[in-house]
Amino acid sequence: TGRSAGVSTAGMRRILPPDVVERGRAPFDPPPGLRGGGPVRPLDLLNGARAWLVTGFEEARTVLSDARFSADKLRHHDATSPRPPQAPVAEREDGAFVFMDPPEHTRLRRALTGQFTVRRMRQLEARVREIAVEHIEAMRAAGTRADLVPAFALPLPSLVICELLGVDYADRAEFQERTAVGLSASSTPQEQIAARAELHAFMRRLVSAKRSDPADDLLSGLVHDADPPLTDAQLVDMALLLLTAGHETTANMLGLGTFALLEHPGQLAALRAEPGLIDGAVEELLRFLSIIQLGVSRVATEPVTLGGVDLPAGATVVIATPEVNRDPRHWPDPDVLDVRRARTPHLAFGHGVHQCLGQQLARIELRIGLGELLSRLPGLRLAVPAGQVPVRDEMLVFGVRSLPVTW
Ligand code: HEM
Repeated sequence: TGRSAGVSTAGMRRILPPDVVERGRAPFDPPPGLRGGGPVRPLDLLNGARAWLVTGFEEARTVLSDARFSADKLRHHDATSPRPPQAPVAEREDGAFVFMDPPEHTRLRRALTGQFTVRRMRQLEARVREIAVEHIEAMRAAGTRADLVPAFALPLPSLVICELLGVDYADRAEFQERTAVGLSASSTPQEQIAARAELHAFMRRLVSAKRSDPADDLLSGLVHDADPPLTDAQLVDMALLLLTAGHETTANMLGLGTFALLEHPGQLAALRAEPGLIDGAVEELLRFLSIIQLGVSRVATEPVTLGGVDLPAGATVVIATPEVNRDPRHWPDPDVLDVRRARTPHLAFGHGVHQCLGQQLARIELRIGLGELLSRLPGLRLAVPAGQVPVRDEMLVFGVRSLPVTW
């Protein structure tokens, strides 16, 4: 199947006007084109199509919980999609359920949530800590300076997904290399296409291995427990969805989250002095950084009035998560990073039926990853001036390309 799953496809970026994506010298703040203005407003795309931008918290929540807005970008015409609206019928059979509506979505999602058991999460938590510690200790053993992205932020979530899918140790280097190239901002489109094709083949081999030789992992559970059973094509797509949705996102939260803390020394000091603040700090970093920039979108299946604006049937609605999560009607001083902030629900993991299925795991990775980093590297600081840290605002998942640090 030709669709690439997840929220990280770069295609839409090419049709977004620069002022809604480029951050300039204030990388932690939403791009200027998202700021101010009404909660729902037209957005003229570079391909001549018109979409609607939602920047209000309540309005965004309405879109994501109202069945008149569809996530099925193939069935309903989506002007922001780089792919043609009419897809071959065969593609409707696959498992990339982030692009489906209920009831199709419900069955596939339920098969997967059934595998995210308390026992499995607890086992994973122990492995997350081992992986985090291993990588930090390797950095320390190698010197006093490293690029945190390849040394820590990318391998941690990649190896966690290996654990989840039950990828053999012998195959992990190959898996990590393919994911790094396939999902990276610095690969060429040709390299990305080739790496994604190899990942697809990798997942096909993995699914057939789990069919004949099941183990105690999520993918084996999905292969053998789902009722009615899932097809190989669905299983491959679901495994790829977990990878694309769970790898780049978590990696960028680890890299960008560390950068944000280093650039807010008062907050960093509070967190070091009181490690118990880590849960709240992770929530606040998710809100403050809102790394899925404009990646959550829906199509209106009928005319809808939203935030006082009349949307026609077929309207593409783009949730401006970085601005939604700074809605001043919802948070006092929304532009301030405050690890002690009272907890208020945010939309960094989306909302409604598609709300992030891996959020519990993502929180575990961030809590442990950032926590171990701060406690094992007490002198952690940037190794270059902050202005020289390269950010990736051209991708749907915002983050840092590299983060040179010393300790
Ligand atoms: C969906 C964010 C980590 C798996 C989503 C959505 C968002 C999101 C905003 C909703 C997309 C939409 O409504 O169109 C994030 C962020 C993460 C993260 C910010 C890290 C900090 C993970 C992890 C996994 C994961 C670790 C799994 C290993 C998924 C899946 C969906 C999803 C499977 C699709 C759910 C559905 O369509 O029902 N994520 N995610 N995510 N996420 Fe995450």
